[in-house]
Amino acid sequence: MNAEPYRIKMVEPIALIPRQAREQALRNAGYNPFSLRSEDVYIDLLTDSGTGAMSDRQWAAMMMGDEAYAGSRSFYKIKDAVRDIFGYEYTIPTHQGRGAEQVLFPHLIRQKGQFVLGNMHFDTTMAHIDLNGGIPVNLVIDEAFDTQLEHPFKGNFNLEKLQSFIDTHGRAAIAFILITITCNSAGGQPVSMQNMKAVKSIADRYDIPVLFDAARYAENAYFIHQREPGYEDKSILEIVRETFSLGKAFTMSAKKDAIVNIGGLIGIKDEVGLYQAASASCVPLEGYVTYGGLSGRDMEALAVGLYEGLAEDYLQSRIGQVEYLGNELRERGIPIQWPVGGHAVFVDAKKFLPHIPPQQFPAQALCNELYLESGIRAVEIGSLLLGRDPNTGEQRPAGAEFMRLTIPRRVYTNRHMDVVVEALSKIWDRRDSIKGLEFTYEPEVLRHFLCRLQPIQVR
Ligand code: F0G
Repeated sequence: MNAEPYRIKMVEPIALIPRQAREQALRNAGYNPFSLRSEDVYIDLLTDSGTGAMSDRQWAAMMMGDEAYAGSRSFYKIKDAVRDIFGYEYTIPTHQGRGAEQVLFPHLIRQKGQFVLGNMHFDTTMAHIDLNGGIPVNLVIDEAFDTQLEHPFKGNFNLEKLQSFIDTHGRAAIAFILITITCNSAGGQPVSMQNMKAVKSIADRYDIPVLFDAARYAENAYFIHQREPGYEDKSILEIVRETFSLGKAFTMSAKKDAIVNIGGLIGIKDEVGLYQAASASCVPLEGYVTYGGLSGRDMEALAVGLYEGLAEDYLQSRIGQVEYLGNELRERGIPIQWPVGGHAVFVDAKKFLPHIPPQQFPAQALCNELYLESGIRAVEIGSLLLGRDPNTGEQRPAGAEFMRLTIPRRVYTNRHMDVVVEALSKIWDRRDSIKGLEFTYEPEVLRHFLCRLQPIQVR
């Protein structure tokens, strides 16, 4: 048995405020945990993005930041790391993942109405495809939506659907293919090497560019190492290199596997024209190309974090913790996406609260109940997040209603996980009494961040 491959050198106090104060806080927040003050939260499982604990090496590197506006030494450390780890010649830093998307996507979506084919696009990624006149299409395997079905790579593309989409619409209708690793929206589920290679070979037949949404590049490689025949003896670094050899570029939120609090990257394998075009957009949108919205010290921490994220003992303990939480919940009969993914346990709220219909947001209701029970903040990944079709105004049908318990990297112990298990078990026992939600305020775009809700009263 192995414990965490680190010891704790600095701590941040957290506290559970009383039940009555939690009730008041949630009311003030319009029954939307995004609007809670973080000091009113005990264990914060809203996201794994920018919430990780940096290492002493990352903090030490920050002291070496070169804050030059142009040509910063810290930028070249990132450039060298990207070339070494991913094998890509060109790098542009950005303030975070969506910054990378806004800089790069306009150069890939050439005509209004072009499709961007993905396993499952993340919500801001979808928004940037929309904003650039593209149409996001999700082609993940059907198994992804059957939470109880055992499948090692639920983030895989459905290759028949991919092929038939291209056959039906033709090459010209497609801007590019985006492989999201791991597939966040399907439950942090990995994509197999075999599947990525098959996607690449279909793409090559039509000369369609393949890109990666690379936020969780290391966790995906770890799953391949664990689960895919032929990869048990390869290092995480070797698997990452093989993965990225299949793409022409990536966008990355470095706030996940690179374990920094802020930062993003664009990587471009070798296409100087694309690099030049993206550079020209970066300057007005994010900042000059050798800092892209980051300070020199941010870039130092990122360059170190890109490597720390690859360490196998770290990945084993990190993904082991997510697994621990998943196993404990499953043993108590609580329905979760199975097997558990890399960064989170996704609780199946459709099964947990079958009496609450999708339009009353069962997963959001569960998040609220969890906060009331024990000050834990989780996030809804379901109908509320998916929103309405911009053309028809109808609610988009969600494949799943998930409550995501997202685990920050190197932050909480398994005792914290036990608190989550205990709280959810109590809620499980009284699940029939939980009520759905209705809007008191519904913003037009990305409504889940700012909306206000109230529990539906029995009339
Ligand atoms: N792509 C994926 C797969 C993501 O999970 C995220 C962010 C982004 C892109 C955007 O990156 O936040 O740095 O601009 N996901 C976070 C989450 C916010 O909670 O899952 P960003």
